Amino acid sequence: MTDTHIRLVEVGPRDGLQNEARHLPTASKIELIERLAAAGHCSVEATSFVSPRWVPQMADAAEVYAGLNRQPGVAYPVLVPNLQGYERARAVGVEEIAVFGAASEAFSQRNINASIAESLARFAPVIERARADQVRVRGYVSTVLGCPYQGDVPLSDVVRVARTLYQMGCYEISLGDTIGVGTAGKARAMLQAVAAEVPMAALAVHFHDTYGQALANTLACIEEGVRAVDASVAGLGGCPYAAGASGNVASEDVVYLLHGLGLETGIDLSALVETGRWISALLQRNNGSKVGLAFKHSA
Ligand code: HMG
Ligand code: MG
Repeated sequence: MTDTHIRLVEVGPRDGLQNEARHLPTASKIELIERLAAAGHCSVEATSFVSPRWVPQMADAAEVYAGLNRQPGVAYPVLVPNLQGYERARAVGVEEIAVFGAASEAFSQRNINASIAESLARFAPVIERARADQVRVRGYVSTVLGCPYQGDVPLSDVVRVARTLYQMGCYEISLGDTIGVGTAGKARAMLQAVAAEVPMAALAVHFHDTYGQALANTLACIEEGVRAVDASVAGLGGCPYAAGASGNVASEDVVYLLHGLGLETGIDLSALVETGRWISALLQRNNGSKVGLAFKHSA
């Protein structure tokens, strides 16, 4: 490993809450985002400007974003699927967006009602507008290690979609194991294949923990050179269009791992653990972070 700083992208308020049966009040969503930023996160994915019919949990995206007391030096990206979402996001002053595509045709259809080619064509004007407005754009590729509908996903499809999004102007490509089926060797091989075409410095990994492999996969990719990791406080999350997918790797667990390796995140683990316990209690769900359960504040 060379560079000792790892940038976490906290996705709990979006990836986590989009899938919770219990809808949180807008004020609690805002409090969650603000607590995560106060814990030291420099990037907190705040919400999604998607169709409220498709994801009702994100219907209050504009209210959430507009209500935030945004801190200097912290990015608050939001998901945007199309120009309509972009307009809604810009109306409340969003400065960073994420477009989200997939390496699997079947998942693309179920998730955003478009083929991969149609989705890329849909993103092009969004990215163009964002560039003109000096809005940063992140790109997601879902189903990089398996698809709930299609099964195996050829690596060549992952590489092609990642490269295309990068060439279209995304500053970073987040590689998503949407249903958490990957293992460390496969994650490493997938990252190597993409990094042959997109600079490693422009890649992030996004592991769901369905099979309990997310932390191992994260470590394998860090050893391989990735320096941006998506994670979700208390392991919140899933995808409403990927049945059975569980939450992301827990942010607390990733921070504990990285600090133990002597890597820096800028995150106060104690404050993060507090936030994970608070949100788990509010949602009346089990805390999905092992560190969140075990951590002693004197440690
Ligand atoms: P569609 O039905 O094909 O859209 O959905 P449409 O353009 O035909 O419009 C239909 C209706 O939706 C219209 O309303 C539009 O106005 C409205 P009507 O006239 O019928 O009343 N509409 C919108 N409303 C608000 N905001 C918008 C918007 N767009 C259309 N932006 C669409 C296509 C993409 C909109 C839909 O499929 C959608 O919203 N999908 C989002 C699904 C989603 O959010 N999935 C979870 C996020 S992805 C994920 O979790 C994976 C990730 O974490 C990485 C990983 O783990 O791999 C990122
Ligand atoms: Mg996800």
